[in-house]
Amino acid sequence: MPNMPAPSIPNLLSLRGRSRGGSRGRGRSHRQGGGDSHSSAPSHDSTIQGTDTDAAVSRMSAVDLGYLQDPFAQHFVQNPVSGAIRRLPIINRGTYTRTTGLDNLISSFLSTTATRERQIISLGAGTDTRPFKLFSQPDLANIIYHEIDFPEVASKKLRLVNAIPQLRNILPNPTAENSSWGSPNLPNGCQYWCHGIDLRDLLKDDVKPLDGIRTDVPTVLISECCLCYLEVPQARGVIDYFTKIIPNLAIVIYEPIYPNDSFGQQMVSNLAARRICMPTLEAYLNPVSQEERLRKAGFTFTRSVTIRDVWQKWVADEERERVNSLEGLDEVEEWNLLADHYVVVWALKGDGFEQWLEQWQGVS
Ligand SMILES: C[S@@+](CC[C@H](N)C(=O)[O-])C[C@H]1O[C@@H](n2cnc3c(N)ncnc32)[C@H](O)[C@@H]1O
Repeated sequence: MPNMPAPSIPNLLSLRGRSRGGSRGRGRSHRQGGGDSHSSAPSHDSTIQGTDTDAAVSRMSAVDLGYLQDPFAQHFVQNPVSGAIRRLPIINRGTYTRTTGLDNLISSFLSTTATRERQIISLGAGTDTRPFKLFSQPDLANIIYHEIDFPEVASKKLRLVNAIPQLRNILPNPTAENSSWGSPNLPNGCQYWCHGIDLRDLLKDDVKPLDGIRTDVPTVLISECCLCYLEVPQARGVIDYFTKIIPNLAIVIYEPIYPNDSFGQQMVSNLAARRICMPTLEAYLNPVSQEERLRKAGFTFTRSVTIRDVWQKWVADEERERVNSLEGLDEVEEWNLLADHYVVVWALKGDGFEQWLEQWQGVS
């Protein structure tokens, strides 16, 4: 791990704030206690919900500048005037690389299970646009897609789907019941469900099964910067909940690592300044401990790559050149540091992943 003196470490808080349009995210809530069953930390919950606005704004910035193609991103930010939202080049490249890494894993799961029903469950999905991108591909079939987030976040997504024709075309006639809503009769045997729950409620003794969850099909559980906000036993408990009910399960986690070097300390202190804490960051310090965490949870095959690896090894030369040419990036050392501090770890157990496993066996 390269060592950079503390003063030259970029302040991610200020990187985040330097968008031309200021804070344009829709509906960042600072409401106290809304729907939060854990009354000890209501304000932390609403701060955590606000991290989704950051993710949506970063996605929009990457789309606007040509890093990513995503016609749906504009609907999840306020005033998406072209060019109004602009993150720094290092952040745009990070958004591009993280999205590409997860998209690669998910599309290879889908292509190697194409002849059967399969399921994706996205934890802390927020305003993620992945289901819209997937369901707009006419040849994809038999995908059961679940998203889980706090009730406030899930109902905001429903409001947007109802209000915006481009979203409603993809998820027509959404129906809501209890804490869930969805479009369970999509073309090609596909289904979409969105569950408005606090993930920690899955640990309660009297938890009811989530509508539409299948326990008999190969399933990928995704945590794209979500489980890191839970206390370590709770994050473990959520993973255990799914490993117990779904025998054939894969998991893909994206989150920060290395909190103890200079860059990592700066990262933690920037988060603390926003009153955000990531308990799992202190517990799973590096790619090795991230993989170990999943082996302990019962997964039999595990792999991990840093975001720097994804950029260098998973993005083809020509595509890297295209992305490089979009803005240019002077701060190569800063990029390497930032990209070394985020990991994609994935693992699987059970059957139904044989071809997927073959594809990823030798990959590092
Ligand atoms: C940084 S955002 C990531 C959103 C999305 N996965 C992405 O990468 O674009 C974290 C999301 O996790 C959700 N989240 C965090 N803790 C949660 C919990 N206990 N229950 C449900 N959702 C939670 C937040 O509300 C937020 O939408």
